[in-house]
Amino acid sequence: MSSESAPEIRVPRHLAVIMDGNGRWAERRRRPRAIGHRAGARAVNVCIDFCLDRGIEALTLFAFSSENWGRPEDEVGALMKLFLGALEREVDELERRGVRIRFIGERERFNTAIRAQMQSAEDRTRANTRLHLTIAASYGGRWDIAQAARSLAQDVAAGHLDPDEIDERALGSRICLADLPAPDLFIRTGGETRISNFLLWQLAYTELWFTDLLWPELDAATLQRALDDYAGRQRRFGLTGAQVTQAPTHETSE
Ligand code: IPE
Ligand code: IPE
Ligand code: MG
Repeated sequence: MSSESAPEIRVPRHLAVIMDGNGRWAERRRRPRAIGHRAGARAVNVCIDFCLDRGIEALTLFAFSSENWGRPEDEVGALMKLFLGALEREVDELERRGVRIRFIGERERFNTAIRAQMQSAEDRTRANTRLHLTIAASYGGRWDIAQAARSLAQDVAAGHLDPDEIDERALGSRICLADLPAPDLFIRTGGETRISNFLLWQLAYTELWFTDLLWPELDAATLQRALDDYAGRQRRFGLTGAQVTQAPTHETSE
């Protein structure tokens, strides 16, 4: 309990976001889809500012999926240009504000200039602790589970691991974001109510929240609505409501 008589507001420790709707935002304005992606990049800053302001510890943003490589060549090219530009432009400010930046996904698929910027952003912000910002790029939840399984198989082949020791904890330790608490709240903009191969393993008990708002339209009021909704939910993790009420601090943080 806080020292005030008002009940404590529950704020998620880890927020995971699918930033969807850039293309439709542009199409509604009869503009090329790339313009929507540019507007979407501005909304990323709205989201980061919000997390810093509310004391959210970790933010994971889905920027580009494994499947997005299959989009028309000019759209992928525009996204890569935007990605590189944003890395060059934003990292100084994020470093100054105490944000630690990391990337998850198949990095080998990006060109060397982007890979170098990713590495440099990670190196420069490694010591920051105010906000853990993870950008999922060339990321797929199925890829993530497969790479975790491969990593365990390599240990078995090398004689360091007994197959009988492979359990949820072992696989969970090789999955991306293993060092962070599992996402508490998932937000998807753009009106679709699906996961689209985002964090399949990590979202097992995450609270899901969807809005029709398109990503470039994102504002703090919308994010606050999601947080208010989250604060009113009872997370049961498979237990009964009565059990959870008796032990209100129960949380998963694998
Ligand atoms: C999300 O917006 C950004 C990426 C997938 C890269 P979209 O580009 O998917 O926008 P819509 O869904 O077509 O409107
Ligand atoms: C999910 O959005 C991926 C990102 C936002 C990066 P998509 O637009 O690719 O998802 P679908 O195709 O609507 O499922
Ligand atoms: Mg989309």
